[in-house]
This record gives sequence, C-alpha cells and structure tokens, in this order.
Amino acid sequence: MAKDFYTAIENRRTFYGISKEAVISDERIQEVVNHAVKHTPSSFNSQSARVVVLLGEQHDKLWDITKETLRRIVPTNEFAPTEQKMDAFRSGYGTVLFFEDENVVKSFQEQFALYKDNFPIWSQQSSGMLQYVVWTSLEIEGFGASLQHYNPLIDDEVKKEWNIPSEWKLIAQMPFGKPTAPASEKAFQPLEERVKVFK
Ligand SMILES: Cc1cc2nc3c(=O)[nH]c(=O)nc-3n(C[C@H](O)[C@H](O)[C@H](O)COP(=O)(O)O)c2cc1C
Repeated sequence: MAKDFYTAIENRRTFYGISKEAVISDERIQEVVNHAVKHTPSSFNSQSARVVVLLGEQHDKLWDITKETLRRIVPTNEFAPTEQKMDAFRSGYGTVLFFEDENVVKSFQEQFALYKDNFPIWSQQSSGMLQYVVWTSLEIEGFGASLQHYNPLIDDEVKKEWNIPSEWKLIAQMPFGKPTAPASEKAFQPLEERVKVFK
C-alpha cells in the first residue's frame, strides 16, 4: 500500500510495543529492504552499507544474545527493566541490522586522500539515511519499528552467529513488528527557532 511521502514521514515513529504477527510476507520485507539499500544515496556512490535481516527464530536469537550480554554487565538487582526491554524487542517480527563495510570506506580514503577524514563521517551519515528509509518503508508497509544501539557490546557474538565479514561494522539494530501500542506523545520545538529562511 503506497502512502504519500509527507504522510509517511509524519507517521514513522518509534514503536516499542510490537508483536510477531505478520503484516506482509517475508518476500515483501526483503523487497522493501533491497529497494532501500539500492536507492539510498552514499558519498561518492560508495555503497558502503550492508544489511542483515533477521526473521523468526533468527530475530529471537539476536535479542537472546543481547539480553545475555547485558546480563553479564548490568547489576543483578537492576536487570529486570533491561530484561523487559529485551523481551519487548524479541516480541517483534524481525530485526534489521545495519552495517558499514570498513574496507569500502578505507579504499575511498586511499583513492581520494583530500577527503580522507570525511569518509568515515559520510559513511555514518549514509547509514543514517538508509536507516531512515528502511524505518519509513516498514511504516508504510504497516510495521512499527525502533532504532537500537547495542553495538559494540554484541558485535563479536553477532559476527560469530551469522558469519558476518570482519570488516562489516555494526551501526544499529532496528527491531520491528505489528504495533501493539501507539507511539508516545512527542513534543516539538518551535520551528521558528530551528529553521531560518532568507530571501
Ligand atoms: C540517530 C538516532 C539514534 C537513536 N538511538 C536510539 C536508541 O539507541 N534507542 C532508542 O530506543 N531510540 C533511539 N532513537 C529514537 C529516538 O529516541 C526517537 O526517534 C526520537 O525520540 C523521536 O521519536 P520518534 O521516533 O517517535 O519520532 C534514535 C534516533 C536517532 C535518529
């Protein structure tokens, strides 16, 4: 179902309450992610983004790994809310993992020495754009998603579990599922303080 761009921008929110109920097919999820990866821009068209989509038991495994990793470092008496949070992400349908290929970034740094310091920044910016496109695409398809950052704590186990190339740097995790609760109220700062137009 296509929504107009401005409505999709507005409706993309952080959804923490998500379920395992499918709203589209797994093939459609892959199609939407492929479309985002293909068409989201990157500096010098370097295409440094890499993505792993975890569905079903693979998704569950990610949040089990994250929970057990956090269990080792969060004090026992403070662990309950963390466990609840991990279980809430695990209650979703899938997770998109966003990586950037550091070999690509390095090769552009070598090729274009003048911009050497910028390529790692642009790589992060491109990844942010891709995250946003995937987030908004999932919203259009009827899922709710949020953006999480348990890297670098989980990097080693994730790489081992899914045989991820060592040069792929984990940037973010996006758990998604059918929304079970509305997004929370959001406050907006006055746009007059944030945008200036000169003409
Ligand atoms: C770069 C970036 C990093 C974020 N990191 C996290 C995060 O680690 N955990 C989380 O729950 N939300 C994270 N968020 C979500 C923001 O808190 C959320 O987008 C913001 O409060 C606005 O709410 P909305 O997404 O519902 O519009 C992140 C968002 C952005 C853009």
